Amino acid sequence: MEITNVMEYEAIAKQKLPKMIYDYYASGAEDQWTLQENRNAFSRILFRPRILIDVSKIDLTTTVLGFKMSMPIMIAPTAMQKMAHPDGEYATARAASAAGTIMTLSSWATSSVEEVASTGPGIRFFQLYVHKDRNLVAQLVRRAERADFKAIALTVDTPRLGRREADIKNRFSLPPFLTLKNFEGLDLGKIDKTNDSGLASYVAGQIDRSLSWKDVKWLQTITKLPILLKGVLTAEDARLAIEAGAAGIIVSNHGARQLDYVPATIMALEEVVKAAQGQVPVFLDGGVRRGTDVFKALALGASGVFIGRPVVFSLAADGEAGVRKVLQILHDEFELTMALCGCRSLKEITRDHIVTEWDHCRRLPPLPSARL
Ligand SMILES: Cc1cc2nc3c(=O)[nH]c(=O)nc-3n(C[C@H](O)[C@H](O)[C@H](O)COP(=O)(O)O)c2cc1C
Repeated sequence: MEITNVMEYEAIAKQKLPKMIYDYYASGAEDQWTLQENRNAFSRILFRPRILIDVSKIDLTTTVLGFKMSMPIMIAPTAMQKMAHPDGEYATARAASAAGTIMTLSSWATSSVEEVASTGPGIRFFQLYVHKDRNLVAQLVRRAERADFKAIALTVDTPRLGRREADIKNRFSLPPFLTLKNFEGLDLGKIDKTNDSGLASYVAGQIDRSLSWKDVKWLQTITKLPILLKGVLTAEDARLAIEAGAAGIIVSNHGARQLDYVPATIMALEEVVKAAQGQVPVFLDGGVRRGTDVFKALALGASGVFIGRPVVFSLAADGEAGVRKVLQILHDEFELTMALCGCRSLKEITRDHIVTEWDHCRRLPPLPSARL
């Protein structure tokens, strides 16, 4: 079947994968209100396209933390990718590198930092969950540094695991032929079957619920890598993140898998951007499935976006080629959106190119000065 948009991969993945695995990838927490909302909210933002601008050349390139990239679309950390495809994280790493973008490797990957590094060149970030055992965390961060990862994305929305009911019903566990490779040999590489979601039990046993702002400082004492805080949803926390020394902020609700009834990330983005006052870059993930979504996020002030589920679904459908295709489709759709909005570079994308449902009080840009 010819794939014409990113969302089509989900149906293929659903057909191909065992139910327990598909459900783990697809689910959100509890009522899954936020899961729907992450998508729906994009449809409350409309374009104000500008016309008669020479768009024969469009430049999508950007830099993230100083690294040059082909486009502002990156790969979010998603755990256990070898459940989707035998090549798992290797395939994702290669696809990201071929597309000239960044892959973020999950702490709970089924390939280790060293293995992913060995797939070849590429700019990669490492997502960190802070286990109770701080020596283990420090060791892992050092390994990521040695494997040439360029930043740490510290996940700050998971002191406990959100209640994902499908995983509870399915008694989710990691298939026995796989391990959380970063923890292999440390007796923490397995997610066993329990009377619950096996992952929820793993998190309850291993993850440090006491994690707080002082630990963001602690992390800076053990690494020189820039630290992105992943899971910020409010202006208050954006300020604290900057005060704590974060090099960037990822507006994320963990793909609606943690606290249900938090706003869609695209709705929370603008308050975080305003609070950040341009001091650090602000990124967004959650529900990005179209080039138009990428444009909307940038118009609201994001420096780039990350995608989660489209990667695991396309991996399940077609391995590395699937992930490459997802990145290509989003690239092409985003480029087209820019052209049709009259933007030739990311700098030209402004707040005035969109109007949101919550803008009714907002004044339209002043007339009549023709701004070409
Ligand atoms: C299957 C799956 C596994 C995930 N694993 C992790 C993880 O290990 N660490 C993390 O910080 N976030 C994890 N996330 C959250 C993603 O990084 C990201 O925030 C989210 O998927 C973005 O939303 P989207 O899936 O709608 O694109 C996971 C999400 C999914 C769907």
